[in-house]
Amino acid sequence: MLIKRSSWVLLYFKENRFYLARAGEGKLNTNEGIIDLDSLVNKSYGIKGKTHLGLEYIVSKPDLITLFKIFKRKTQVVYPKDIGTIVLLADICPGSLVVEAGTGSGFLTAILANFVKPSGKVFTYEVRREFQEVAIKNLTMVGLERYVEFKLKDIRKGIDEKEVDAVILDMPDPWNVADIAFSSLRSGGKIVCFLPTINQVERVVETLKERGFIMIEVREILERTYKVKRGETRPEVFMIGHTGYIVSGGKP
Ligand SMILES: C[S@@+](CC[C@H](N)C(=O)[O-])C[C@H]1O[C@@H](n2cnc3c(N)ncnc32)[C@H](O)[C@@H]1O
Repeated sequence: MLIKRSSWVLLYFKENRFYLARAGEGKLNTNEGIIDLDSLVNKSYGIKGKTHLGLEYIVSKPDLITLFKIFKRKTQVVYPKDIGTIVLLADICPGSLVVEAGTGSGFLTAILANFVKPSGKVFTYEVRREFQEVAIKNLTMVGLERYVEFKLKDIRKGIDEKEVDAVILDMPDPWNVADIAFSSLRSGGKIVCFLPTINQVERVVETLKERGFIMIEVREILERTYKVKRGETRPEVFMIGHTGYIVSGGKP
């Protein structure tokens, strides 16, 4: 696969020492020396290069999770460990129509867009223009904005889309959206809420039950990464203690 002009490249020296840049955009100054980004255009991913100091790097194609490092972060964002489960519980696949609120910095939006493309769409609601602008910039940087309709609207005032496959809520009071989410979902459609506190979980579960959602479940994802060295392999000392709870359910 050839590297196109302006496409993102991962310039990998060693573990925890890599850079993200766009091919064809001049020179990149790094601690390891200068990298000529123009020389990468039309080369194959996987090639090796050398900085002007003679240090070797590998040119790879970055995945979306790695590209999150170039995203601007203006709000609390959903972590990859939670996003994976949210996507499964919401049953998202290519072609899905997904409503989301709030957009925030667009981290979850980007992953949703990546799953629904090329024929699906994410309709993402946000009340604050400054956050929406950041999210649009973030998604445009990775070419996913075309699969998203960004809406500057309080979702509690109504969901414009009908017969959607999933409604995903990362906002403080999702219980105020239970009714309109139910009306907007197709039969068998999913609702998934991401919530930082257990008090919110109780309230949303009660509301979802009252509204007629079924198969309601609550879970929390704990992730532990490992340091691997022969004879000394063990979990990393630090881990993310808490992000949030995931509440899921379906419209009968
Ligand atoms: C925690 S952030 C979302 C982060 C986002 N999921 C991400 O991964 O980048 C919550 C967002 O919900 C927005 N919000 C809160 N209430 C809302 C509502 N009623 N309608 C639409 N957006 C809302 C906030 O302005 C904020 O940007």
